[in-house]
Amino acid sequence: MTKQILSILTLSLFISIQAIAQQIVSPDKSIQLNFSLNEEGVPTYQMSFKDKEVIKTSRLGFQIKEDDQDLKNGFTVVNSENSTFDETWKPVWGEESEIRNHYNELLVSLIQEPSQRIMNIRFRVFNDGVGFRYEFPEQPNLGHFVIEKELTQFAMTNDHTAFWIPGDYDTQEYDYIESRLSEIRDLMTNSITSNLSQTSFSPTGIQTSLLLKTDDGLYINLHEAALIDYSTMHLELDDKNFVFNAWLTPDVQGSGPYMMAPARTPWRTIIVSDDATDILASRMTYNLNEPSKIEDTSWIKPMKYVGVWWEMITGKSSWAYTDDLKAVKLGVTDYTKTKPNGKHGANTKHVKELIDFASEHGFDGVLVEGWNEGWEDWFGHSKDYVFDFVTPYPDFDLEGIETYAKNKGVEMIMHHETSSSVRNYERHLDQAYQFMKDHGYNAVKSGYVGDILPRGENHYSQWMVNHYQYAVEKAADYKIMVNAHEAVRPTGIARTYPNLIANESARGTEYQAFGGSKANHVTVLPFTRLIGGPMDYTPGIFEMDLSKLNPDNNSHVNSTIANQLALYVTMYSPLQMAADLPENYNRFLDAFQFIKDVGLDWEKSVYLEAEPGSYITIARKEKGTNDWFVGNVNGKKDRVSEISLDFLDKGKKYIATIYSDGKDANYKTNPQSYNVKKMTVSSTSKLKLKSVEGGGYAISIMEVK
Ligand code: NOJ
Ligand code: CA
Repeated sequence: MTKQILSILTLSLFISIQAIAQQIVSPDKSIQLNFSLNEEGVPTYQMSFKDKEVIKTSRLGFQIKEDDQDLKNGFTVVNSENSTFDETWKPVWGEESEIRNHYNELLVSLIQEPSQRIMNIRFRVFNDGVGFRYEFPEQPNLGHFVIEKELTQFAMTNDHTAFWIPGDYDTQEYDYIESRLSEIRDLMTNSITSNLSQTSFSPTGIQTSLLLKTDDGLYINLHEAALIDYSTMHLELDDKNFVFNAWLTPDVQGSGPYMMAPARTPWRTIIVSDDATDILASRMTYNLNEPSKIEDTSWIKPMKYVGVWWEMITGKSSWAYTDDLKAVKLGVTDYTKTKPNGKHGANTKHVKELIDFASEHGFDGVLVEGWNEGWEDWFGHSKDYVFDFVTPYPDFDLEGIETYAKNKGVEMIMHHETSSSVRNYERHLDQAYQFMKDHGYNAVKSGYVGDILPRGENHYSQWMVNHYQYAVEKAADYKIMVNAHEAVRPTGIARTYPNLIANESARGTEYQAFGGSKANHVTVLPFTRLIGGPMDYTPGIFEMDLSKLNPDNNSHVNSTIANQLALYVTMYSPLQMAADLPENYNRFLDAFQFIKDVGLDWEKSVYLEAEPGSYITIARKEKGTNDWFVGNVNGKKDRVSEISLDFLDKGKKYIATIYSDGKDANYKTNPQSYNVKKMTVSSTSKLKLKSVEGGGYAISIMEVK
């Protein structure tokens, strides 16, 4: 009897000790995560890397709409489970052919008193970081609930340097600002450059994926993984204490996500290392997503493409067919009665020329924008029924182009600009995808320019997150690959739906035609935006003076030609555009050769050197060949990059073709100065190459057989 009481006592003592703090470490023991409940039963966590604190004790939980107790305190631990997982999986496309998913897991089950509600928190600790999410199992006392505020914090240890863009419910198309956390408030107003749809929310509100650098040499990335059926997370900084608070994108009524148990949140992610190249090499975001739900993935193929695009972005030609119409009513407006404006890009003759160019130079596809009726009146009036996605302009011979492309072995990519009339897009989606299949289009570029309809919704609210997901899943039913622009930034969902082959969701090359981007922009993107998935950055611009394309455009592309070539390696994407016009490639055929040669899908990637905002150098081995490609993008000042080719197979000989900045290259005044040099190399070779500000180099290394 006494023995029994004793063991019950020991057990409860054991439980209450367990309830105070629990620790897990990464498989290599470099990362430590502590979970604990404070005296009020508030769940908290704390994290360190190689004995340096990364996240100070930070609270977890939720404020719930119309709820007395919220889900923030009064918790006790009812159970906790530790486990280990180690598996290697093969992505359909990617930076390497195999990805190891190795972590230690802690699942803490909490019960709240007196509500008797259960909330579980699942932590996964990898060698490269930590992911955690909240789970709400099916239970008697929690069914439907609306999250008013997610109380998750990320408490920083100091006034770190951050590479940030303004928090916004509608766009990520901003230049990155590099500053101390304490400087964000003062810099915010000037950092909010204009966009057709934007909603900022706080002078210290910023977006993820966020990169931080500490004074003692740590690189930290904060983001989320598997954003499904939830609102997009921003971060609001308490700049007195350097604590980031989660800030969820509200819906039209100002509410957070609508939940129904069983439910779970996306993963909150913290990637950390003392070496910047490890951040680029991290696959944690993908690993936190579910395996592919598409069984037969044979139709999903990386693509290199050209298109009817840059000419409209620069204003050389137009999406619209006519300048006669002030308003367009599809089905009522008769285009045959209008006068063509003479500069409509997507006309049959021009599209066929591009198909010829693609076929001559070995490109997989041609994108057509402005092929369908409605562009005369596509944004700005909160118009519901904009496009029907099935009616070509009179000068676009859909069938003729289809046959022509097929005969030339070129795939066509269709553009669906929704102009953010999401209701209209969903109304047409099945018909539009079927129409694509009927006419041989296996990939769609979708777009969400302007304010969302239904009116008042935000690009990154739960409702819209669900729409993007719906479109990707529906596309998979039709075996269609998706490249969504202006959609929510990716969170590794392409692991589960590999037909999501790219997104824009950041400031892409188009901004080089709208006033220019910072010369070091591309040395930041791989540390931030690309953490969640590939970007359709649309590189390959050779003519930087855009007044040569359109006398009314005085914008300048802030990059050298060698930098543009390097982007095919440094900005990983299975979808890569050669964005400039054929006539500009024909002027620089020796440089264009790199774009033709460069791989798209990789066996492995070696991250040679990197510093956010300053430089990135990556080497990648093409899948199915022994060829390697190296890219270096250089940010703020001239720099000599020294690399060793020891990643090459020992004992083999290779021919390297080096495309580097010319001696007198300058991204503003002399961007077209470059050198092309061939040499024999092996695994013992070392290279020393100078890159200018906004410059870089690209190397193709082909095995001599
Ligand atoms: C913005 C997209 O990013 C761009 O690529 C597209 O051409 C325009 N919208 C028009 O849809
Ligand atoms: Ca865009």
